[in-house]
Amino acid sequence: MNTMRLSFLLGGVLALAAGLSSCGGEAPADSAKTQAILDMKRATDHHSYSRPEEAVVTHLNWNAAVDFDTRVITATATYDIETAADAERIIFDCTDLTIQTVRVDGEAVDFELGPAQPFIGQPLSFPVSGDSRQVSIDYQSSPEAGALLWVEGDNPFLFTQSQAILARTWIPCQDSPGIRFTYEAHVDVPQGTMALMSATNPTAQSADGHYDFRMDQKIPSYLLALAVGNVEFRSVGAHTGVYAVPELIEAAAYEFAEMEDLLVAAENLYGKYAWERYDLLVLPPAFPFGGMENPRLTFATPTIIAGDRSLVSLVAHELAHSWSGNLVTNATWDDFWLNEGFTVYFEQRIMEAVYGRDVSEMLATLSYQGLVDEVDAIMDLNPDDTHLKLHLQNRDPDDGLTAIAYDKGYFFLRRIEEVVGRETFDSFLKTYFATHAFSVMDTDRFIDYLKSVLLTSDELLAAVDLDAWIFGPGLPENCPTVSSARIERVDAALAGWEAGTTATRDLPWNDWVYQERYRFLSNLDDGTSPERLAELDAAWGISTTGNNEVLFAWLEQSIRSQYQPSYERLETFLVEIGRRKFLTPLYKAMVDTDQKALADAIYAKARPSYHSVSTGTMDELLAWSE
Ligand code: BES
Ligand code: ZN
Repeated sequence: MNTMRLSFLLGGVLALAAGLSSCGGEAPADSAKTQAILDMKRATDHHSYSRPEEAVVTHLNWNAAVDFDTRVITATATYDIETAADAERIIFDCTDLTIQTVRVDGEAVDFELGPAQPFIGQPLSFPVSGDSRQVSIDYQSSPEAGALLWVEGDNPFLFTQSQAILARTWIPCQDSPGIRFTYEAHVDVPQGTMALMSATNPTAQSADGHYDFRMDQKIPSYLLALAVGNVEFRSVGAHTGVYAVPELIEAAAYEFAEMEDLLVAAENLYGKYAWERYDLLVLPPAFPFGGMENPRLTFATPTIIAGDRSLVSLVAHELAHSWSGNLVTNATWDDFWLNEGFTVYFEQRIMEAVYGRDVSEMLATLSYQGLVDEVDAIMDLNPDDTHLKLHLQNRDPDDGLTAIAYDKGYFFLRRIEEVVGRETFDSFLKTYFATHAFSVMDTDRFIDYLKSVLLTSDELLAAVDLDAWIFGPGLPENCPTVSSARIERVDAALAGWEAGTTATRDLPWNDWVYQERYRFLSNLDDGTSPERLAELDAAWGISTTGNNEVLFAWLEQSIRSQYQPSYERLETFLVEIGRRKFLTPLYKAMVDTDQKALADAIYAKARPSYHSVSTGTMDELLAWSE
């Protein structure tokens, strides 16, 4: 068996406790005026300075100019606000922003920028009253803004990654997932590029570099997104389309041709799609994630373009967030499993509906293996991080980005489905999304809701065991079992190959789809000799695969087996691709096997093109200092 894969354990292992004091906790006890304000009474978000009980944003008008030469966004953020009758000030979150002027209802006011705290940045506060209606902030972003990645060269590209708390590095905002607002924007970009946002989008480049956007549905700040680059649009269905650079647009249109089918399947499961269009933007390979569910426009890594549509489950995942996350949103990052666990469950159901149970059970088996490995790893470090309900106060919310929220969350929901039956669970979920659309959910309220409408007897509650799943460590005993005959056959083939009873040529490699190939490679024994990898490569040409998941598993094993012929490919892979899920295990494998010098040499070349999300993790893993 291979050692843990760290597929999601990205920050957890590397977590630092920062020891800062809590903020934004005590709420003034005044009469709340609106539902927006009422909603805010429910959960305290330790990762935002804002005090929505006192003053909360409801609409953003963003007017911005994007300058690639200086890597600066110069903008005015004008917010409509609602204030409590006795409100005295409004507070925004900012990280590395230069604030120039602040106006309240057109009048310039003095503002205060508090000291920067680890992770959460600075509070920007200024006086407002119960009568204030609009505030306006002129500001500039820093060239080092954590959300932004500027790609240089003949084809300049800029993209943002706001989740979890990086929106505040490019827009002053009340950066808490429980605070929702509509927005409009006017953005100026260089000629020859198109600007796209998590909003209504253009399908052709404008002649003058001006673009206008509207988002009429209320969203939280972590779903604010901007991309600028020389991209084209191709429609793939009535409500769906892809954006990509000219070199990739054909390939992308082919790869994601089934997006409309996924959308229809999702609507058949849990109700009407609320965001009108579902498009996907293929980003440069430096994008640090696989995908990001920006409303109306999923941002995706190009590494899922495999040529055979085999990695489309990622699209199912981001699409599912249009319900779980974007419609019903985790109140704080401690409730992150409400976003991701529901989304993995929904993703699996879409995959089952479109591609069949065979395929979805293979995916569930891989997710189970990833979960078991990661539970083992986290239990050694901080067992509390294996609870669904997290405790991220004074920590980077990135620490919560582990397989627990995703896969323990998934198996928890699958357990409920097992107990109440699929039909009952489906109608529960459909009602859950409809009832809580465009609002927030926290773990305690979810438990209350579950108890009041679904788990209404002691028998049902005992069969599920909410406490064990949500507040307990590791994997509860009643965790559903997955079985995939296809994965079992792979395991048997692997055992035969390792024992020498199955010849390399007799492996059914060419009959296997990506999930089976991935299972085989990722479960190779760590001590597999380089000669044996050479045999596999000679027979099946694995190092030339166009599937990046398969290539990733192959490269990781190559490092562990010190299979030198792969090292050139390893280097180009790490220099070109900035997706953290691939980087962390590859660099870690080098560290684990006394090849730290190689890791450092490759990282020195690759680092300048990575996004801050990835350099943050790799700097720590490699103890990097500039
Ligand atoms: N919303 C997440 C990505 C994210 C989470 C970014 C938390 C920042 C903070 C996205 O939906 C996601 O889960 N992406 C996965 C996709 C996978 C599970 C199919 C990824 O990027 O690997
Ligand atoms: Zn997700």
